[in-house]
Amino acid sequence: IEENNLTSSDFVLPLFLVEGKNKKQSIKSMPGVYRYSLDKINFVVDKAIKSGLPMVALFPYTNPRKKNYLGTESLNEDNLVCKALRSIKKKYKNEIGIMCDVALDPYTSHGHDGLLRGKYVLNDETIKILINQSLLQAQMGCDVLAPSDMMDGRIGEIRKSLDKNGFNMTQILSYAVKYASSFYGPFREAVGTKGLLKTDKKNYQMDFRNSNEALREVALDIKEGADMVMIKPGMPYLDIIRDIKENFKLPVMAYQVSGEYSIISYAIKKKLINEESIIEILNSFKRAGANAVVTYFANHVAKILK
Ligand code: PBG
Repeated sequence: IEENNLTSSDFVLPLFLVEGKNKKQSIKSMPGVYRYSLDKINFVVDKAIKSGLPMVALFPYTNPRKKNYLGTESLNEDNLVCKALRSIKKKYKNEIGIMCDVALDPYTSHGHDGLLRGKYVLNDETIKILINQSLLQAQMGCDVLAPSDMMDGRIGEIRKSLDKNGFNMTQILSYAVKYASSFYGPFREAVGTKGLLKTDKKNYQMDFRNSNEALREVALDIKEGADMVMIKPGMPYLDIIRDIKENFKLPVMAYQVSGEYSIISYAIKKKLINEESIIEILNSFKRAGANAVVTYFANHVAKILK
């Protein structure tokens, strides 16, 4: 008679990648989360498959020497994400899905998700690059493209170019509702954009005082061809998850972001709350209407559930 339940197939595990060999680097602000070099990544992917997770999400820590103002490393077929896609797909075929961010922030010297002119990120000029980044990642074997850049109109353009090039089976999970949030701080340490950002992302990410705008963002992305939508961050935006699910009835994902992970992890470490809090919080996502959750706890939770 429980109305909601968690299963391991509800969770997507983010993976941070780093260049080099035999590396497992800890991330100071995210206890228990690591960056892995490609030769070490199989260990984590094995675990994810055994846990029954349906998908991992790849995020690169790009060597600062490879970053530039235009983020051109995003289009290099030998960048970290492309190499990881090829090697994971070769080894695991379709045993596990792979999702990739579409955005320029891991590659730009200013840490913004798109091309910067003065204080602003240029919407239409950025989309032209995102189309090519999407196509490249699809060619390398990405199953689910996840534009997290928050430019307007990119879903339609990406869908069109995927279909034209024979990638009609590649899915698009649009980060349709991504708030300009302070909860992304630890992630920015993980991917190495923290010191680079001189301004916030309020010019393209959403204002946390708004909820009607979330409905407009989702409506546009569905019309343009999104298969699923992401709400992000998670716990401070459960009302938005509920709103979107009730209004649109399409698969809704939520991202329990790095700041949420760190708060919970540090509180557990300090014994302020216990481990069951993780399960309690993740159930709140399900109650609100999320069909799946991207969470750094994915492997851990799968183990608890077993
Ligand atoms: C960037 C991106 C961000 C996250 C995922 N993709 C951060 C940002 O917009 O600055 C955040 C994830 C997290 O905090 O866990 N495109």
